[in-house]
Amino acid sequence: MHKVQFVETVLRDANQSLMATRLPYDKFEPILETMDKAGYYSVECWGGATFDVCLRYLNEDPWERLRKIRAHMPNTKLQMLLRGQNILGYKHYPDDVVRKFVQHAVKNGIDIIRIFDALNDTDNLKVAVEETVKCGAIASGAISYTTSPVHTLENYVKMVKELKAMGCATICIKDMAGIMGPQEAYDLVSAIKDAVDLPVDVHTHCTTGLAFMTLLKSVEAGADIIDTATPPFSGGTSQASTDTLAYALRQLGYQVDLDDAVLKEVADYFKPVRDGFIADGTLMPKSMATDTQCLTYQVPGGMLSNLLSQLKTMNALDRLDEALAETPKVRKDLGYPPLVTPTSQMVGVQAVTNVLQGERYKKVSNEVKAYCRGEYGRTPAPIDPDVQKLILGDEKPLTGRYADTLPPAFEKTKAELGDTARSDEDVLSYIAFPQLAEAFFEKRQAAEDNVVKYAIEEM
Ligand code: CO
Repeated sequence: MHKVQFVETVLRDANQSLMATRLPYDKFEPILETMDKAGYYSVECWGGATFDVCLRYLNEDPWERLRKIRAHMPNTKLQMLLRGQNILGYKHYPDDVVRKFVQHAVKNGIDIIRIFDALNDTDNLKVAVEETVKCGAIASGAISYTTSPVHTLENYVKMVKELKAMGCATICIKDMAGIMGPQEAYDLVSAIKDAVDLPVDVHTHCTTGLAFMTLLKSVEAGADIIDTATPPFSGGTSQASTDTLAYALRQLGYQVDLDDAVLKEVADYFKPVRDGFIADGTLMPKSMATDTQCLTYQVPGGMLSNLLSQLKTMNALDRLDEALAETPKVRKDLGYPPLVTPTSQMVGVQAVTNVLQGERYKKVSNEVKAYCRGEYGRTPAPIDPDVQKLILGDEKPLTGRYADTLPPAFEKTKAELGDTARSDEDVLSYIAFPQLAEAFFEKRQAAEDNVVKYAIEEM
């Protein structure tokens, strides 16, 4: 019997997609021991935006959060999302930092690291994959799914073979925008299963309403693992519902080893949690709705709202149609990058700028310049040479791997931080988000000083 396994995403992607990752640790701690008994393949609970948001908004040490989850869930594999050479930030880091980060993620409790690159450049994945394998964790190599004339089945299969050769134990199709249709999923999963003998995990979002059909056709094509979220945190920009897919797949004769009573307990727990965040405005009902605009424009939902807010601040909302028409042209000029952080922002901002300036590439952001210099890696198709010349002038683009030009940073930063950093984890937080980490260290120290002060006063 074909067995289908489930990655529960409520703590990471569902949380990130529905409510900008604002779920504090205290809100889910009471359910962790129950979740540990559900029989999930894994619980995705760390990485992505969780790290940034813990430091920026929640005043939580992300490493401490991970250790606490680990302590409450000893029997379930814990999974994180890593942006390859970008680790959890928005630029490339030197290799020694990537390696240290992976080592400490595993040391603090991570079992599975899903590694992706915005451009699907495997050069940006290899160090993270290699280190994950070395640390004894499971490296899941992810394809950032997109459509374009160069994103063919052949090219995806070529990438998957490289991922396998690097040491990835599973392959993930990461459809961050929810634009992968059921037929596309069927064809892609089939092609991957034909090419490599590895478990395939399908990750999509309900944004456009395709997810249930896409996941079903993926399973029919042989997918082994699907990403889902407990019902109260499912749908809309989040994943499809865990309980619904367990029910439907069992009815269709697939083996699903989840404990229904536990799933119900998990859903019952998260219902009032969700309602609380709807009541205080953190979770906007529109995130839970279906929106097919992404299918029409082929731009992810988050990018569309960025375009709108950018035009609004420029008092140019009437130019939206032009900006939307310009977006695929910019994407083509730049060699068809998948639209995911950070490329979605680069392409969106450039499209709006081109329209509002009345002249294409008259003004170009530093990020797009860096992109054209090759600092984000190899583009899926070559950048249009005229556009590249326009942007770079006589400057020569990089030919090798950008991270090879970056000097090691971990030991140097550790020495510079001195006593401010209490652990290697602190050093890594600082390297990833210097200002945020610094502010967090200060708050942590102040809170401790207060505790000591009160203790002395009480004596
Ligand atoms: Co996602």
